[in-house]
Amino acid sequence: MRDLPWPARVYLVAVIGAAAALIVRSVMVSGAPVADEDLDILLVLALLFLVCESMPTLLNVEQFAVSVSFSASLAAVVLIGPEGAALVGLTAVLSVRPGLPLIKRLFNGAQFAICGYAAGRVYEALHGRVGVPEVNAFDDLIGPYAAATAVFVPLNIVLTLTMIGLATRVRAAEVPMRGMGQFLLSYLGYGTFGLLVAGLWATVASISAVLVLLPLFVARWAFGQYHAQQRSYDATIAALCQAVETKDYYTRGHCTRVSHASSMIAQEIGMRTERVRAIRYAGMLHDVGKLGVPTKVLQKDGPLTEEEFAAIQLHPMRGLEIVRGIGFLDEAYAGIMHHHERHDGTGYPMGLAGDEIPEFAKVIAVADAFDSMTSDRSYRGARPVPVAVDELRKSAGTHFDPVMVAAFIRALEREPWQPPRRVDPPPPEAAETPIKDHDDPTMPIQVVTGQ
Ligand SMILES: [Fe+2]
Repeated sequence: MRDLPWPARVYLVAVIGAAAALIVRSVMVSGAPVADEDLDILLVLALLFLVCESMPTLLNVEQFAVSVSFSASLAAVVLIGPEGAALVGLTAVLSVRPGLPLIKRLFNGAQFAICGYAAGRVYEALHGRVGVPEVNAFDDLIGPYAAATAVFVPLNIVLTLTMIGLATRVRAAEVPMRGMGQFLLSYLGYGTFGLLVAGLWATVASISAVLVLLPLFVARWAFGQYHAQQRSYDATIAALCQAVETKDYYTRGHCTRVSHASSMIAQEIGMRTERVRAIRYAGMLHDVGKLGVPTKVLQKDGPLTEEEFAAIQLHPMRGLEIVRGIGFLDEAYAGIMHHHERHDGTGYPMGLAGDEIPEFAKVIAVADAFDSMTSDRSYRGARPVPVAVDELRKSAGTHFDPVMVAAFIRALEREPWQPPRRVDPPPPEAAETPIKDHDDPTMPIQVVTGQ
């Protein structure tokens, strides 16, 4: 609590205070928040909420996790009313999430209580009947229930984002909104489980929770497997990336930055999520073929012989050979293989031109050259971002695909680039320092012919 900025502390106290006031008021008005005959329902829903809250599920969206616990709150809105929904939400305080600080538990419990209560009030205001629904009256619940969900979900998001914003001093406008649409849709979709629990209660009572939960947990398990797989993919890529960067003192971090710039372009041109992930991998691994180029060639001072230059030009093919067996890379292969093709057809390894060049390769070419220009190299300092952007503009239509250059410039206006920190000269023992960067479009490698 002491670590929180004062506005966050005030907000936290206000949210907890509001939730406490709701519960106290309901006790004062009706003697108890929930009637005695509804206690069993309260208990089952609170347990359901607690189980789900203890296991939030990551969505197929990078920065969001969702717990389906709120569907228990929404079921409570129908079965036992707003006060009951508030009490069910309050059980978030007891969630089994090791390491979750008490302050976060209190906030979660309070904000879920407020959301449940507000949703319940809306449900009642729209003449939703509180109690175990009768089969022939089920249709009448749907409208008020949809309205209650439409209040619960945004209120929950606003209360939580406000807390995050105040605690981390991130303004709402800076909160990453990528994937928010998918997150909202999933969130609203999970809301329907509450209606199912409430609807089934009339026939199978508390077993309805199990019936609804079972497929939910199977889905959650599948999601967990998927994310574990993603993490192992990421670790594989990171290891390969690190192996490449040990060959080159000055290009440390280059793969990660190319990956980031590539995903900026990919999003700008509207690639779908799976392709953005694939291009991120391709950006990380675009130079993995350098592992197959003799270090003495990469480190050579002065012009290269034709053979040495040919060895450098082979690195996209070598890259493809190295990663060919990694099944999940899919389209990333094309990006790795063709990232040195040029729009005018004078690139390598195949001399493809214009639309012959795979889209991934066009994207990576821009990201690669930009990061090279804005990073320190042994033979020159980093160029400022505007200079590098000018260079990209000048070479659009010859070296680079103009569509990708324009997309990157737009993306940079939205998300300013953070160039890497200055690179100090390498310590004497770090002799593995290439003299020339093959990615640098402003200083082409000198090749001596006829040697
Ligand atoms: Fe390369």
